[in-house]
Amino acid sequence: MSNILAIESSCDETAVAVLKGDELLANVISSQIDVHRKYGGVMPEIASRLHVENIGVCLQEALKKSKMDLKDFDAFAVTRGPGLVGCLHVGLQAAKTLALLYDKPLIAVHHLAGHIYANEYIGELKFPLLAVVVSGGNTELVYMPRHMEFEVIGQTRDDAVGECYDKVARVLGLPYPGGLPIDQNAKIGKPTYDLPLPLRKEGTYDFSYSGLKTAVINLVHTLKSRGEEIRVPDMCRSFQDRAIEMIVGHALKAAGDKGVKEIVLSGGVSANSYLRQEMERRLLNSGIEVLLPPLWCTTDNAAMIAKVASHLYDMNFFAPLDISPDPNWKIEDYRKLS
Ligand code: KG4
Repeated sequence: MSNILAIESSCDETAVAVLKGDELLANVISSQIDVHRKYGGVMPEIASRLHVENIGVCLQEALKKSKMDLKDFDAFAVTRGPGLVGCLHVGLQAAKTLALLYDKPLIAVHHLAGHIYANEYIGELKFPLLAVVVSGGNTELVYMPRHMEFEVIGQTRDDAVGECYDKVARVLGLPYPGGLPIDQNAKIGKPTYDLPLPLRKEGTYDFSYSGLKTAVINLVHTLKSRGEEIRVPDMCRSFQDRAIEMIVGHALKAAGDKGVKEIVLSGGVSANSYLRQEMERRLLNSGIEVLLPPLWCTTDNAAMIAKVASHLYDMNFFAPLDISPDPNWKIEDYRKLS
């Protein structure tokens, strides 16, 4: 049982969490989404500056909520990558400073491992499992034979699914980030527009979203140039059916081939209502369990970083104080710190 203070700053959320044993005492998140919305996406330079402004406030708030003192922690954990390099630097610098000041170990955590382990807040991870990691920057199928062992067996060859949602939303005039507005519109729409479902190549579980994205953009431009009405809910439903089928289809095939006990969803797109519903429906009576992260855990937070850190603490796996961020860190390489 360890007391961990964890920091997350890989993209546009500054977050600090306190995990005391199994008890999450604080989970403070300062989101920059309203600032980036005006630009239609995350502006890296602005994001880093806001992390610098917010990190101290989030730290104070987490200590106040948890009623813990900085000297009470066994280790300080931080997201080392992947993410935006300037943003990662801010969190890493803060965690290093605390580790140095209080003479406690530093724990470097992989952001996607965090998304997967967020599921431990609601249930048990049952191995072997398949993690479906779907977010604004990632679309990956990760096979885990046991705790803290990761093998990426499928990934996107072009756009991430969340990125595709955001671009489709923009062309339809919906706000950023586009996932939730598309999800809400799809609920009241009908799949009347004919969009392509890319075929899966035999022998691979890779994804491709650029064809689907381009098909929506071209169709919207054609309808506009002909002066025809675009039925936004119907377009959202047609797009969402295809986008989610690609994830569910690949995941179920991979889960069957690998003989997993459980599928866990993770990342921002795992908040999608249709994805959650389809996974549950199609796994019913299959012998494969499904774990859906609580909605508060689908967006970036430091609670998930603390969870991974508690495993790394038990493994005595600590980082040196001269470690740098790794914006492209691969999950399989989470033990490679140089
Ligand atoms: O994991 P996340 O918070 O951070 C990044 O990796 O950027 O994921 C954010 C992504 C965005 O692209 C957003 O549009 C998408 O998750 N998202 C959704 C939903 N809620 C958020 N996508 C589909 N359906 C949703 N309900």
